[in-house]
Amino acid sequence: MDEFERHGIAVVSGRDAGARALRSPSLTSDPGVGSPSLLLRDGEGHTRVRAVLREIIAGLEPLPESLQAGIEASVGGLGPSFDLVRDFARPVAGLVTSAVLGIELDDGSLDRLEATTANLDVFGGADRAGQAAAFRLAVQLGRTPAGPGGLTALRAAHAAGRLDEDELMINAVVLAHAAYENSLNFLACAGLELATSGPRTVRELVTAVCPARYVLRFGPDGPVAISLADGLPFGLGRHACPGSGVALAEGEIALTALAEHLGGACEVRDVHWKTHPVFHGLASAHVVGGGVTGVRK
Ligand code: HEM
Repeated sequence: MDEFERHGIAVVSGRDAGARALRSPSLTSDPGVGSPSLLLRDGEGHTRVRAVLREIIAGLEPLPESLQAGIEASVGGLGPSFDLVRDFARPVAGLVTSAVLGIELDDGSLDRLEATTANLDVFGGADRAGQAAAFRLAVQLGRTPAGPGGLTALRAAHAAGRLDEDELMINAVVLAHAAYENSLNFLACAGLELATSGPRTVRELVTAVCPARYVLRFGPDGPVAISLADGLPFGLGRHACPGSGVALAEGEIALTALAEHLGGACEVRDVHWKTHPVFHGLASAHVVGGGVTGVRK
């Protein structure tokens, strides 16, 4: 029995059943707590907030050259022995998330984003540490001066009456979190896949890794966990990932650079996994030497 079923949550698995559930009008993303996050609502509020975030994300399509160069420099600077999470995936995901918001996210902010996920209690328990980390980050982002980019665009949308105060505050964190955590987990796991199996396209890798394993919906008979592991890595329907183009583009650049950096035979040691029921990722994995077999175009 999987962890959701142990908590009395029905699980939908398989690609077709998952697709049907994600498109079903009788299942909503809104748990009924009045959250201003676009992930936890449907209808007019969701459509309005999502339109603002889509405009922001479109600013990175195609990926700006400066961001590409930053990713290549970060991966090219790796030594012969490094950790796939700390040294490869975290800096790249940090660069992309900084570019999304248009501000430089320091190590403390990345720690808060990771703490948000690690403590995100999808079963509605009493552990509030994830919410506290998200709240602190929201306050911090609210005070951060920003140049052109996502944070300024969110503030402009608020000034124009497109977002209320709560929507402005929460969705800055939701956007940063969605971009950072999924990129981090995808890049590290894909790096491990490349190091231990043959060449694959970035799309094959994201489907194999499936960094967001489940999404939650609420129906007449209670909550439902929909598995994305059978070929729906970016979800489907109203909430389908609006950042999938950015995710694939950053993956292409970072994983190609990783393959080039490595080259000859490499060894991966001390592989440790995170244990979150939704976000699937590596905690750490140590790479020594060369040998990644490449990213097929
Ligand atoms: C490999 C990397 C990524 C994966 C696997 C991924 C996966 C997903 C999935 C499965 C959802 C749907 C959630 C649901 O239906 O409840 C989602 C939503 C979202 N993603 Fe991504 N994502 C990735 C990267 C990104 C990036 C880079 C961005 C931003 C640039 C982003 C922004 C968002 C946002 C804003 C939402 C909420 C959409 C909504 O609720 O309407 N994601 N993502």
